[in-house]
Amino acid sequence: MIAYNQAEKTVQNMAQQMAHAADQLQLHGFDRYYNAMVGAYVSEVYKTLPYSTFAQMTNRAKTPLCSVEQAITYTTLYGKSHFDRFSSVIGQIMGRSTRTKAVTKTINVVDYGCGQAIASLALLSYIETYVNCENFTLNFYLVEPSQTTLDIAVLLVSKMSSRIAANVVIHQYHTDLAGFLAADSHKLAPADYSLHLFSNVLDIPKIQQIIPTLSTYLQAIDGKQMVIAVGPQYSNNYTGLQQLKQSLGGVTVKQDITDFSVESEIYSVTSNHWRHSHSRGVMMGLCFKNSLDDAGKTDLAA
Ligand SMILES: C[S@@+](CC[C@H](N)C(=O)[O-])C[C@H]1O[C@@H](n2cnc3c(N)ncnc32)[C@H](O)[C@@H]1O
Repeated sequence: MIAYNQAEKTVQNMAQQMAHAADQLQLHGFDRYYNAMVGAYVSEVYKTLPYSTFAQMTNRAKTPLCSVEQAITYTTLYGKSHFDRFSSVIGQIMGRSTRTKAVTKTINVVDYGCGQAIASLALLSYIETYVNCENFTLNFYLVEPSQTTLDIAVLLVSKMSSRIAANVVIHQYHTDLAGFLAADSHKLAPADYSLHLFSNVLDIPKIQQIIPTLSTYLQAIDGKQMVIAVGPQYSNNYTGLQQLKQSLGGVTVKQDITDFSVESEIYSVTSNHWRHSHSRGVMMGLCFKNSLDDAGKTDLAA
């Protein structure tokens, strides 16, 4: 009974720490959110979930996470470098000039294997910095097999959205990629363009296996499409990026598969202190326009 009460208390404490970090995101942006997550890890989580256990339980975060403790550990370990890498790639692909004119646009954003939505947060942060989005509608489609991280993703995207003027709509899909493609293949709203975000997921074998179906899905969405894919410099990531690029065929390559590096201040859980690190990544940006003729549209509707 005492052990049960203690476990209950720990779960409640984790949820409170998570809520506090989300408030920091809303009030001050990603850096302060990351600091709050590190604070939660250092004050509590490291005692019950050492790195080696986390790495073993989650196959180094490739399998869906199943507790807030794991989510806090993930963010402490990788959150800042993933955010900085994705931000750097968005800046590179979309440019770093400020757009002050209020244009009316509807944009779909699909975050595949979103985890805690780090890629979507990087995109929102980019929009906050560079784009007058008062007449934007942003439809987020968050696809993730872990309910724990999907709940966090929805919370964080809504908190971050309150920092910008756009109308933001969040759709959540508690499923793996195969399930999303099978069940929801034509559910994106009509939009000026659709952004497809792949952040640290194209190295996952189950995702690589389904790239041909993914590619058919991407080619069946009407209008302008942009694919942004980023991952650490592991050979499996290069393979995933290459497979997706080849599978999509004749697209405009905005950013070919390239190595890059960003500098981040991260908390090292193995040496228990903050350190300046170079996060090395591989990135890709592809654009294409699908003009679905009447026959294509009939096929999709059938
Ligand atoms: C390394 S994490 C990346 C999470 C997030 N995109 C990021 O950049 O922080 C891999 C994510 O892929 C998810 N995942 C694993 N298998 C998947 C599958 N078959 N379909 C979709 N997502 C999957 C995991 O649950 C996890 O959230």
